[in-house]
Amino acid sequence: MKTVQPSLFCFVFLLTLLNLGCKENKKESQTDMETENTPMESDHIVKSTFGEMPDGTTVDKYTLKNAMGMEVDVITYGGIITRWTAPDKNGKYDDVVLGFDDLKSYLDGNPYFGALIGRYGNRIAKGKFSLDGQTYTLATNDGENHLHGGLKGFDKVIWAATPKSADEGAILELTYTSVDGEEGYPGNLDVKVTYTLTGDNQLEVLYEAVTDKPTVVNLTQHSYFNLSGDFTQSVLDHELFLDADAYLPVDGGLIPTGELRPVSGTPFDFTTSKVMGKEIGADDEQLKLGKGYDHCWVLNEEESGFGLAASAFHPATGRVLEVYTDEPGIQFYSGNFLDGTLPAQKGGVYGQRAGFCLETQHYPDSPNQPSFPSVRLNPGETYKTKTTFRLTTK
Ligand code: GLA
Repeated sequence: MKTVQPSLFCFVFLLTLLNLGCKENKKESQTDMETENTPMESDHIVKSTFGEMPDGTTVDKYTLKNAMGMEVDVITYGGIITRWTAPDKNGKYDDVVLGFDDLKSYLDGNPYFGALIGRYGNRIAKGKFSLDGQTYTLATNDGENHLHGGLKGFDKVIWAATPKSADEGAILELTYTSVDGEEGYPGNLDVKVTYTLTGDNQLEVLYEAVTDKPTVVNLTQHSYFNLSGDFTQSVLDHELFLDADAYLPVDGGLIPTGELRPVSGTPFDFTTSKVMGKEIGADDEQLKLGKGYDHCWVLNEEESGFGLAASAFHPATGRVLEVYTDEPGIQFYSGNFLDGTLPAQKGGVYGQRAGFCLETQHYPDSPNQPSFPSVRLNPGETYKTKTTFRLTTK
């Protein structure tokens, strides 16, 4: 297998960043981070060992902290966020994302808890797409379809980590080179994901990538939130707002049909905040296909190109999660496939709907749906997109 040396990667990545504009279908993200280039540990970022892969590779854990008291644990396996504490209305910090205590549990079967997803977040029908007349066949891992990057997506690889200094929070850069042909995708893809914990309880996730052949890219973050902090409780009592007047109905394999369907008058209308469980059991064909909510919403256009896409509120604790993005879509997944077989971090098991995901992304199956915004990345372009998660209370 062809490999790319880290030094070469840095050189190519820097050159491309310096020279070439953003991928045309991505809106320019907000301000670039200003960081020092020296890897370091500080009070705001602490490195420890999380576990060891079967081949002996060490998996590190970085704990990002800010002055408010928020802590985010990120491991180098899958770039996974294993723990993320947030205050309730009384100032009590508690973990609000589903995860496991040890590496073995992640290796044994992780339903993408906390993981970085790539090369393609969500599904590609029958694991096939064409670019410039050539058909590519991807690994299929969701029935006949390709899901979340295939059999060994970015959630299952070891990322190189570089901690960086920040005045009020912490920054962790993760890099990974996905080689030409990996999981069937064309082109060597150099990927960088930067997690920035700010001083005011925001976690910014900046995704960047460059390729040496035309390819498709759609990266996302797959944290499962439960703002109650009690993972034995379902999330159906959380109130959800989605800034989306339409969503993408799907077929039996959860592939979009191509229709952009107005949410108005349907259980998919979250334009005014409502409890997640309010209509999840409604007699609705789409809810039956998803076994609940497992659909991509078409976000209303933000003039700035970056804005509030979603917010969730847990009334009993007062915790609020806001999601800001420059992406055109967001997958709201209500944890339908959790089935009580996985051990929960603080005791008990993860039951159905013990967590919800808000995955910012381009639409599923875009490589096969010409009417959807393009996910194509060409050599000389830089894929660049940002999503920010903000945790507050009210
Ligand atoms: C995504 C998918 C779901 C499911 C979860 C992981 O959100 O849309 O169908 O596969 O990931 O279990």
